[in-house]
Amino acid sequence: MADMKKAFVCGHPIAHSRSPKIHGYWLRKYGIAGSYEAIDVAPEDAAEFFATFGERGFAGGNVTIPHKEAAFAAAARRDEAAERIGAVNTLWLENGVLCGGNTDAEGFAANLDERAPGWAKAGPAVVLGAGGAARAVIQALKERGFTDIRVANRTVERAIELGDRFGPGVSAHPATATGELLADAGLLVNTTALGMAGKSGSEALPANPEALPRHAIVTDIVYVPLETPLLKAARECGLKTVDGLGMLLHQAAPGFERWFGRRPEVTEELREMIIADMAKASTGKS
Ligand SMILES: NC(=O)c1ccc[n+]([C@@H]2O[C@H](COP(=O)([O-])OP(=O)(O)OC[C@H]3O[C@@H](n4cnc5c(N)ncnc54)[C@H](OP(=O)(O)O)[C@@H]3O)[C@@H](O)[C@H]2O)c1
Repeated sequence: MADMKKAFVCGHPIAHSRSPKIHGYWLRKYGIAGSYEAIDVAPEDAAEFFATFGERGFAGGNVTIPHKEAAFAAAARRDEAAERIGAVNTLWLENGVLCGGNTDAEGFAANLDERAPGWAKAGPAVVLGAGGAARAVIQALKERGFTDIRVANRTVERAIELGDRFGPGVSAHPATATGELLADAGLLVNTTALGMAGKSGSEALPANPEALPRHAIVTDIVYVPLETPLLKAARECGLKTVDGLGMLLHQAAPGFERWFGRRPEVTEELREMIIADMAKASTGKS
């Protein structure tokens, strides 16, 4: 079909990406003649892939680990969020020019808007971790007016780099100081891989939520499992919790709109479909 629009998600590895399921759901729901496929691109092939996907008929696509920085370098034009975060997760072509954006910050904020309205007034925020995802989270917090953002990381140098990058209002701390940082915090965000199923530290708590005030909100951007050990411990302390799946769903929407021309909705049905898929994968029946 000549007018069929094509998009991709590229990464390495890519087999476990849930993005094709998300975009496939929206293509079906809106009856759009389009496709969205996962493409494994080795790091040495990334620059070539970004330069030539248009010739292969793609309107654009998503970029995931480990190519977000390479996509940033390849894009001739970038949106403001990508510039601030230093990484690109969404690519599209405008008159043949490669453009890159970053929708992770928007996805993070939209998830909390949906699940914890009023979250942006919670007070000081503690961000655990200082990797790529932490940069998107800090960008979202700054956009939403947080003026006291405390970044705690095992490797304190990386937290300091983020403090320098994002400037006033963002302070850097070693992970060992987390307990003290929580005493008057209103929002705790885990962006470390601790708590992720199948990784070392999957049972570990990146922080003890008992140290938080009663009004605090706890969110984890790790979404496998949906309820991480941190979220479980926070719920058992009576704190409001928000899982990370909504961030994944919401970050996908702006790309879909760019490639396929329609803003898609993040519905409960979509969320349930992805949760069911995750359950199948964890029992090895994918
Ligand atoms: N929900 C979503 O849509 C979404 C979006 C993006 C990412 N994520 C998830 O977020 C997580 C982080 O992604 P990323 O891109 O930021 O990764 P990254 O750049 O590799 O950073 C990983 C972070 O985790 C810390 N860490 C890893 N293992 C640790 C351990 N055993 N103990 C203490 N700290 C540890 C690292 O600390 P050091 O600096 O000390 O190594 C670093 O701060 C991943 O699980 C990813 O799947 C979710």
